[in-house]
Amino acid sequence: MISEKANIEIEQVSESRLAEADLDNPGFGRIFADHMFEMEYRDGSWHSPTIKPYGTIEVEPALKVFHYGQSVFEGTKAYYVGDDTVNLFRPEKNIERMTQSCRRICIPPVPPDLFLQAIEQLIKLDHRWVPQKEGNALYIRPFASAFEPVIAASSADVFRFYIITSPVGSYYSKPVKLLADQHHVRAARGGTGATKTAGNYAASLYPVQQAKDKGFDQVLWLDAIEHKYVEEVGTMNIFFLIDDLLVTPKLSGTILPGVTRDSVIQLARHWDVEVEERAVSIDEVMEAGKQGKLREAFGTGTAAVVAPVNTISYNGETVTIHEEERGALGQRLYDEIYGIQTGKKEDPFGWIYPVTVHS
Ligand code: COI
Repeated sequence: MISEKANIEIEQVSESRLAEADLDNPGFGRIFADHMFEMEYRDGSWHSPTIKPYGTIEVEPALKVFHYGQSVFEGTKAYYVGDDTVNLFRPEKNIERMTQSCRRICIPPVPPDLFLQAIEQLIKLDHRWVPQKEGNALYIRPFASAFEPVIAASSADVFRFYIITSPVGSYYSKPVKLLADQHHVRAARGGTGATKTAGNYAASLYPVQQAKDKGFDQVLWLDAIEHKYVEEVGTMNIFFLIDDLLVTPKLSGTILPGVTRDSVIQLARHWDVEVEERAVSIDEVMEAGKQGKLREAFGTGTAAVVAPVNTISYNGETVTIHEEERGALGQRLYDEIYGIQTGKKEDPFGWIYPVTVHS
């Protein structure tokens, strides 16, 4: 049984791979830091929290995660502040969301204190992997999956929880082009739209591929009932600046409750920008675009941060916004959030969780 002050066993690498890594140009999620966290759930509790060298794991092909997708994950980042400090950004929000995701997918939640301790220990060990280049960060990917080798379509009773980390650059290097999909849906009420589970992403791959074949970057999902109301982008939540009003779809159970989404709403309100979380129809967005009232559109997410959207296409019509650059509000939000994350700006909301590291 794991207590709140669990001792994490640590097996360090004999030789770091850091010298082979290009932290200035890492791409996204392609290279991994030296260590990973691993823990197993068996006989009713999480056991043996361990940090070990990142590497392959040997598994049976019958694992339930391969067949039924019983798996949830999170994404958060560590930011370089100085040689002795790395910042985490609102990690408790990701831990809380993963707890909710676990419940929805019948995975026993990881004790929050242990979860945070695991991230912290891993960052302390691999802090040299946190990129220093402006805009880059160390992406932290926790996930929990069904590790029981039984091909019956029922919840597993053995699970593994891992945390792997990856130096990353921007998720989107240019403004994003969105196609509002009229045929496929991401999530319906009562489904798993608000859950960060593997299946949501698998189900989006085919429509996204179709959108890419037509020259778009991503799908702008519409609601499952009327195909009328905007939901999210799958890789990020979505915001529209219509005249002076910042509008974003409300959390109705079908979209992911993004940590960056919440931070953007809090910051904008702090600056006296009027924000509405409500149902926003694609017709309203397209109409605003045609009338020149859609001043900005941007997506928000841990990977994407605040990513400008410059094209929205729906039902054969296209509106374009800020062809090549960010709009003023999107830029201000990006600068502020990234500034807080990297310790260059004040943190009036107490969002930063600093980790002291030893060089
Ligand atoms: C994140 O932003 O952390 C995500 O998990 C989105 C994913 C598409 C990289």
